[in-house]
Amino acid sequence: MSIYDVTPISPGDFQRRAKWRLPRFLYDYIAGGANDEDTVAVNTADFRRYHLKQRVMRNVDGIDTSTTLAGHQASMPVALAPVGMAGMMARRGETQGARAAKSAGIPFTTSTVGICPVEEVQAAIGQPFWFQLYMLRERDLVLKLLDRAQAAGCDTLAFTVDLPVAGMRLRDYRNGMLGGGALGKLSQLTQIVTSPLWAVDVGLKGKPHNFGNLSDLVPDPNDLNAYKAFVDSQFDPSVTWEDIAWLRGVWQGKILIKGVLEPDDARAAADVGADGVIVSNHGGRQLDGVASSISKLPAVAAAVGGEIEVYMDGGVRSGIDVVKALALGARGVLIGRPWVYAVAASGEAGLTNMLDVFQREIATAMALMGVTRIDQITSDLIEY
Ligand code: FNR
Ligand code: LAC
Repeated sequence: MSIYDVTPISPGDFQRRAKWRLPRFLYDYIAGGANDEDTVAVNTADFRRYHLKQRVMRNVDGIDTSTTLAGHQASMPVALAPVGMAGMMARRGETQGARAAKSAGIPFTTSTVGICPVEEVQAAIGQPFWFQLYMLRERDLVLKLLDRAQAAGCDTLAFTVDLPVAGMRLRDYRNGMLGGGALGKLSQLTQIVTSPLWAVDVGLKGKPHNFGNLSDLVPDPNDLNAYKAFVDSQFDPSVTWEDIAWLRGVWQGKILIKGVLEPDDARAAADVGADGVIVSNHGGRQLDGVASSISKLPAVAAAVGGEIEVYMDGGVRSGIDVVKALALGARGVLIGRPWVYAVAASGEAGLTNMLDVFQREIATAMALMGVTRIDQITSDLIEY
């Protein structure tokens, strides 16, 4: 960052500011991935393997970036991905994200392990949003959670299937947050004291800091050890496709299966009645060494794209990336880290600006590719 850079524009700009503002353990929790973070790296890098085609001398007056996502009108083919603990990164982070998504005209997804409860998000935006579910061992708790989400107006469920166990996030150990004992606590305190903007804005004014959707079970989100113990003990690793049939019976809205990479897993999702799949490796936070989401998208789209909606996430960092994903078969994309960096660095207004830039990038790319509507972004506009 130079002193002449007055306004953050891209996800990278917001990331640098978020890094500067946040206590290190929180920044590491967002930025990090599993093991050597190879999959984190290829998720973004692999977008560069695909090249868009420039088409000229077509009438591109009146570009329209709008589409429908899970049955709702959206201003562009982008949704905000579920990010656990967003409310630790920015003051009431989920509500800020939801408000910015509303003003941009795109869906917001709240996580099972969000800080703000679904009711708070509903009160902030007064319109439907998406709810992300992790299957808990106790199905009664899941039913309660789904009832609350439905009552709060959630009409689309993103059911995440790529986290039967938590990935090995080495940064969380390295910085002392996991298994760090007394030294870890001391380190955490130092990181907080040396992040005064965050400490006042989020640490003090952003309370309460608990998992709003799971308040009965709450471990303290400041304590990653307790959080990991909670995930290990409560998340159900025995889940199979049959549980989705159960979910189908209890959830009235749409169901998107999040965390599918292989075509025959996508096929299984379609067969159990899912309305869509999200091609995702959890932002490289689970199985390190697995291929990038964008490289897996075309085969999944070929397998089930004619029947159900295909989304992708992982590594989307610009409107150009969005257009590439569409040309490779996605109906839309979700963005994870970028939205959290934006609210952590500059709040709702920062995220609103970032989303506006995404939309303008999509519109500009469409004009330069000779198309005016989203459904005209097809595989003949991309090469390898
Ligand atoms: C996530 N992700 C995630 N996914 C999910 O289904 N439930 C969750 O609670 C979380 N929590 C979470 C926390 C943090 C800090 C990150 C970075 C990610 C995964 C997320 O929804 C999405 O799949 C990825 O973030 C997409 O990759 P990018 O856009 O971050 O590259
Ligand atoms: C994560 C979990 C919360 O990726 O999805 O950290």
